[in-house]
Amino acid sequence: MKGLVLSGGKGTRLRPITFTSAKQLLPIANKPVLFFCLEQLAAAGVTDVGIVVGDTEAEIRGAIGDGGAFGIQATYIRQDVPGGLAHAVKVSESFLKDAPFIMVLGDNLLRDGVTSIVEEFRADPCNCQILLTRVKNPNQFGVAELRDGKVVRLVEKPKEFISDLALVGVYLFDRNIFKAVNAIRPSGRGELEITDAIQWLLTGGYAVRPHLVTGWWKDTGKLEDILEANRMVLDGIEERIVGRIDTGSRVEFKVALEDGVVIENSVVRGPAAIGAGTRIVNSYVGPFTAIAGGCTIANVEVEHSIILEGCTIDGAGSRIIDSLVGRNVVIRKGDGQPRAYHFMLGDYSGITLP
Ligand code: G1P
Repeated sequence: MKGLVLSGGKGTRLRPITFTSAKQLLPIANKPVLFFCLEQLAAAGVTDVGIVVGDTEAEIRGAIGDGGAFGIQATYIRQDVPGGLAHAVKVSESFLKDAPFIMVLGDNLLRDGVTSIVEEFRADPCNCQILLTRVKNPNQFGVAELRDGKVVRLVEKPKEFISDLALVGVYLFDRNIFKAVNAIRPSGRGELEITDAIQWLLTGGYAVRPHLVTGWWKDTGKLEDILEANRMVLDGIEERIVGRIDTGSRVEFKVALEDGVVIENSVVRGPAAIGAGTRIVNSYVGPFTAIAGGCTIANVEVEHSIILEGCTIDGAGSRIIDSLVGRNVVIRKGDGQPRAYHFMLGDYSGITLP
């Protein structure tokens, strides 16, 4: 079985971060979402993996290389336009050929990985297997209507309620899917929807098998979902206390520190992850925070947030919560007059003031 990981798309719901970074490389507990996907495929014995890339190809290639570090062999497949998930399947036909394959969205995170699903599909092949989970906001996903345990209808982002069973971004197919992706027409948002392609299979009498996901699943396409995924992964993190922690500091409950971390006169309360070489001085780092490497966090309280590499946050007046801060951002307390906010923000930035 081959693997297909979709790592294109523009990530418009995560601007401005995605102006300079592929959404699949945003870190969850200091590890890019895409790394989880590749490691989970390797763990399921899927090692021949096509990675569909768009505008952020160079960045994805730079992070993944030949895939050896993740136990896979990566082949890059160019998708010149973000034409939808079914379009990504279409452009991958010469890589996939006749092999059955598992398709994974590179910004989706499944707690329990894909091993059991791959085993189920290998032991009992069908034309298509979909993963489903109950969600509170089905109008934001593709959804499936089941009757007596069988899929009867699939609708992408239904306006009217038909079911709360959302399609998780993991799909297994045999080669009949190519007939489907070549037959369907673009949706209202101008994309070839994989949901429509699977509906095409269903209408044509092909076997579409549902599998209900029990462990958590997150599509990390939006800020609140990224923060929630971060919470979920940090919750299961293994404690690792290394680096220099002075006697005036406390590090409490499931904190994973990477090498070279310095903590002075501060409290770090887990679950939390702190990246290599980051300094935390006179500060409080609260639960569900992931701070990447090379940061300086001083005279500040931060909680339930993700801070990327190389940031300096020094003396923000209020506690920072529910935030995602891009690379090399500087937030500091000014010392001159007038006492006012000074901003230099990228397009589509968002700030909420106390
Ligand atoms: C896509 C699919 C949708 C699926 C979702 C899972 O949505 O179109 O059917 O439920 O991924 O993450 P999109 O992220 O393109 O809005």
